[in-house]
Amino acid sequence: MKHRKLGRSGPQVSALGLGCMSIGIAGVYTSSVSNDDEAVALIHRAMDLGITLLDTADIYGDSERQVGKALKGRRDQAVLATKFGFVGAIGARDRAVDGSPKYVRNACDASLKRLGVDHIDLYYLHRVDTTTPIEDTVGAMADLVREGKIGHIGLSEPSVETVRRAHQVHALAAIQTEYSLWSRDPEDELLPLLNELDIALVAYSPLGRGFLAGRFQKPEDLGPNDWRRGNPRFQGENFARNLTLVKHLQELAKKKGYTPAQLALAWLLTSHDNVVPIPGTSSIQRLEENVAAAQITLTAQELASIDQIAPKGVAVGTRYDEQSMRLING
Ligand SMILES: NC(=O)c1ccc[n+]([C@@H]2O[C@H](COP(=O)([O-])OP(=O)(O)OC[C@H]3O[C@@H](n4cnc5c(N)ncnc54)[C@H](OP(=O)(O)O)[C@@H]3O)[C@@H](O)[C@H]2O)c1
Repeated sequence: MKHRKLGRSGPQVSALGLGCMSIGIAGVYTSSVSNDDEAVALIHRAMDLGITLLDTADIYGDSERQVGKALKGRRDQAVLATKFGFVGAIGARDRAVDGSPKYVRNACDASLKRLGVDHIDLYYLHRVDTTTPIEDTVGAMADLVREGKIGHIGLSEPSVETVRRAHQVHALAAIQTEYSLWSRDPEDELLPLLNELDIALVAYSPLGRGFLAGRFQKPEDLGPNDWRRGNPRFQGENFARNLTLVKHLQELAKKKGYTPAQLALAWLLTSHDNVVPIPGTSSIQRLEENVAAAQITLTAQELASIDQIAPKGVAVGTRYDEQSMRLING
């Protein structure tokens, strides 16, 4: 496994992390993991393959508890990242964000308890609370660093202006945002800023929530309660039009002897040295396939072919529904 550093002062992590969301929440994605033992086995396999960055959040159902279980006796082998800020479950209509200093502290204590650890290596604000100055939220997170409860600070889905302001209060190690072949917005302003400030980008949903891997041919291929059925890119006409991108990706991957998922991950890793993708999977076989992508270095010509297949803005449909779109770029 290759390694990358999270920001100027952040920890060294495996070039690919493991997203633990879909194994922790029953039903958010159609998942092959159905209990703690299977979740722990999957996380252990990831660690055995050299993955050190484990990504979870307080709203990912059982995920924090399961990650904590997997880390029993192996705590020093992982960089443990979790998130706080959402009040209300994934998909809830009345979902809100709380970044107030009091909430920061309470949320951290609750996560430490669920994880069964005394230290979180990387603690993210999951969405920016626009009613609390970011200086106050990050100031409270900086207090947690001083107290030894967390090691490093990250933000998820902030605007570039928020990154600048937050970074002045305390050095940020990582910004987490959706970044993949069908979500290339970070290339406009965010990535240049992160390069300037020496902050890493942790790329979530690097496989386009599974779509780019080419397993889904129609919305009905997703379980009846799968959250993605409500995502604009997975609906009706949009789904059908987005399949063209996948078809082209599959053709190129086949020519090169890779899978489309590997191509999508290798594209992120080859294009940037400060990007760490965190694909999620509930299958040990697909985990192994994804980990192998860390060994692939694409040529300039391969990158150019991918650019042609998936130029910026290629996806049809926004990456969240209207309500959730209001919470990004905060
Ligand atoms: N900060 C945020 O707001 C935020 C939002 C979303 C996600 N995240 C984080 O990012 C992580 C990853 O994102 P994600 O799970 O949304 O999306 P993703 O990694 O793009 O895709 C996950 C989906 O792809 C499938 N998959 C994985 N590897 C595959 C392969 N090799 N071939 C075919 N299918 C494959 C998985 O299905 P199987 O399980 O069947 O393999 C799963 O349905 C999450 O676990 C979470 O930690 C953060």
